[in-house]
Amino acid sequence: MSTNSISKHSFGKVVWKSPSNIALIKYWGKKGNQIPLNPSLSMTLKNSHTITEFAWEKGEGLSFYFEGKEEISFKNKIENYLDSLPYPFLKDYHFTIKSKNTFPHSAGIASSASSMGALGLCLAPFMDNEQDSEFFKNASNLARLGSGSACRSVFGGMASWGDISSQYASPIENLHQNFKGMRNSILIVDRGVKEVSSRGGHALMNNHPCRQERPKQAYKNFKMLQEALINGDLEAFGRVVEQEALNLHGMMMTSTPSFILMKPKTLCLIEEIKSFRKKTGLNLYFTLDAGPNIHLLYPSAQEKEISDFVKGLGVEVTFDEMGDGPEQLSFVGEVCGR
Ligand code: PMV
Repeated sequence: MSTNSISKHSFGKVVWKSPSNIALIKYWGKKGNQIPLNPSLSMTLKNSHTITEFAWEKGEGLSFYFEGKEEISFKNKIENYLDSLPYPFLKDYHFTIKSKNTFPHSAGIASSASSMGALGLCLAPFMDNEQDSEFFKNASNLARLGSGSACRSVFGGMASWGDISSQYASPIENLHQNFKGMRNSILIVDRGVKEVSSRGGHALMNNHPCRQERPKQAYKNFKMLQEALINGDLEAFGRVVEQEALNLHGMMMTSTPSFILMKPKTLCLIEEIKSFRKKTGLNLYFTLDAGPNIHLLYPSAQEKEISDFVKGLGVEVTFDEMGDGPEQLSFVGEVCGR
């Protein structure tokens, strides 16, 4: 993939399409400048993207449009983000950003991961690096500074932010065939606004009684999941992923103040999923984000039987699956020198 270097361009435009992801090992709690308390690992989605058109010219300031409209609250966030980056030369440009999502609002899909992933990819060429591998590291680092989970979205398949002293994520190599094309069906239990933002949620870990213990458990789960992904062990995968989901919610329930983000329907559906699994022996597992909606995970080889069950649950479903990662849709630039 050609990524081009913008740093020598006085004006131009790049368009990136970046996917969202669903965390299997949850990043929860942070320190310093977006450094996580524990390693995390996620599956990149195929159908749920942010498409960001990013134009620059010599000047200053930012124009921001989301789905065709000027969006002041998003604009302020992006402005703060750009100001926070340690690259003073960015202040010599005026940026026009037009962004849209391929998935509806409140579809149970993290839009910060895809939107900050896309922005990181658009900004990465400013970092003056022609090598593709370095380009994606730079993009991942830039995405991380906007939203921690976004650093994993710039890679396809599965990606981990395994070394917490590292400033970027990396793709999972040697993924066993059993996990290729894994399905992710999202059961929409509630479309309401999130009761606690992820920024607020991470902050709850600062004085949490499990602040020391949670990272130890996440490390253990991270290692077990890595092994399962290489060995093709679907059952071990399911055990770890479900424990991580409930652990995340356990952390929130035992925070001060505490939050119960699951709804009664979430628990009913979890019961149904478990009894379907017991009855059929199929590898259907669940995870949860910081909200009430359920992300089902299952191998593509079992899609037929499982999707019949999913459709019969009587809830709204967003169907997605493992994707190949971001795509640069266009690049136009004028060379001039910084
Ligand atoms: O990237 P943030 O700051 O929105 O945090 C994401 C937190 C979780 O989605 C709950 C977990 C994760 O690893 O994605």
